[in-house]
Amino acid sequence: MTRQYWLRWFSLHGVPRVVLRVQSRKGDTFARMMGPEGIADPHPYIETIRSQGRLVKTPLPWVTCDHALVRSVLRDDRFGVRSSARIQIPKVLQRFANRVPPPANPADPPAMLRMNPPDHTAMRKPVVSAFTPRAVKKLRDTVETVTEELLDAMPSGGSIELVESFASRVPIAIIFDILGMPREDQEKFLAWGKDMTPMLDVGISRRTYGRAMQAAQSLNDYLDRHIEKLRREPGDDILSNLVQSGDLDHYALKANASIIIGAGFETTANLIGHCVSLLLRLPEQLDRLRAEPQLWPNAVEEALRYEPPVFITARQALTDLELEGVQLPQGSMVMLSLAGANRDPAVFTDPQRFDVARPNANEHLSFSYGVHACFGASLARMEATHAVRSLFERFPDMRAAAPPRLRQQLTFRGYAQVPVHLGRKVQVTPSTVA
Ligand code: HEM
Repeated sequence: MTRQYWLRWFSLHGVPRVVLRVQSRKGDTFARMMGPEGIADPHPYIETIRSQGRLVKTPLPWVTCDHALVRSVLRDDRFGVRSSARIQIPKVLQRFANRVPPPANPADPPAMLRMNPPDHTAMRKPVVSAFTPRAVKKLRDTVETVTEELLDAMPSGGSIELVESFASRVPIAIIFDILGMPREDQEKFLAWGKDMTPMLDVGISRRTYGRAMQAAQSLNDYLDRHIEKLRREPGDDILSNLVQSGDLDHYALKANASIIIGAGFETTANLIGHCVSLLLRLPEQLDRLRAEPQLWPNAVEEALRYEPPVFITARQALTDLELEGVQLPQGSMVMLSLAGANRDPAVFTDPQRFDVARPNANEHLSFSYGVHACFGASLARMEATHAVRSLFERFPDMRAAAPPRLRQQLTFRGYAQVPVHLGRKVQVTPSTVA
């Protein structure tokens, strides 16, 4: 990693990393939740924080697990996202750190997730407009085709690892459709995606950041060539629509293509992994879905509520302000636990229970809220519902072959491996995408 990136790492991740470690050793609940114990099982820490109040001071930022408060901060224009353009190191070092701009990536502006209005609006609007009804219809067809191809290739009576061979394959095919990229390049994207996603985590190691920057550089080189090609020969895809609209410059095109990869791929793979694992663990819930298949979309909402693929987000006070009777100076960070909000007993009855028929499951905040609310939400819902339902219909006797293994990441929480025995394969008329 060059010295410029070292300084970026130091200010964005190095300082929080040291503070979290020290505080974790002292037994601080928030710091422990953000460490290995929290990754394994965050919910006891969330409930401790909830019991301390709606807005809780920690040695690093403020934190809330309260549904109403998380929602209200997300739509409060006195708060914004933390921009890595304003990295917290002395001015002279900042000039040095900014001299070599990082490769376009999901965690730095102009990626829309790291921008505040009005610049955010200028980035987001053209991207949303590129998702035309015709383009979305094409994505639906791809979800059906890819799911069937993957299921056809799975052996009757065999044993497989589901994340590698299914949960990550459906979303990557969709991202490739969106970006108009050739199928044969999927393997390298899976590797870059795996290396880049930790960038959106808190307090990652220098090595992980270095690997992420390297992957971002490789992706940039690829996108330079790919975008030039789409300028000359536009395809029938969403990135071509965006390139042809001329609304974003080349660097912004790359940053926002990389955020579609960063925000759209692992999240959806995690959702599919969570859904499958939950249903394997709770066969009575699967039986209910077999008896009442109309509940499938609600089961996916409930999985989103119960195990949100994006576990936590944060907002920074853009001005001195008052929140919950507390004076927060400009720059104060508030960590918003989406997982905590999703199990708030004030909104969800018996919140620690997974219930595919929960009437208000869709009140979860797993797709965030306000100006940064995920615009891939309906696509992700459709992908997961079709993929998981089809999997259980084709392999009705499927069962866990070993306990699933979690990734060592908190922000994007999900399984690295879900080993299963598939059992017999039955031929069914493929269900169509709802
Ligand atoms: C289960 C799957 C998904 C989950 C749980 C998810 C979750 C989220 C969350 C929580 C945010 C906002 C973060 C914040 O407020 O700080 C977000 C933003 C975003 N998501 Fe998703 N997402 C998913 C799938 C997708 C897909 C499939 C796409 C692409 C087609 C996508 C594209 C985006 C983009 C571009 C943003 C940034 C929006 C902005 O900053 O205005 N996401 N997502």
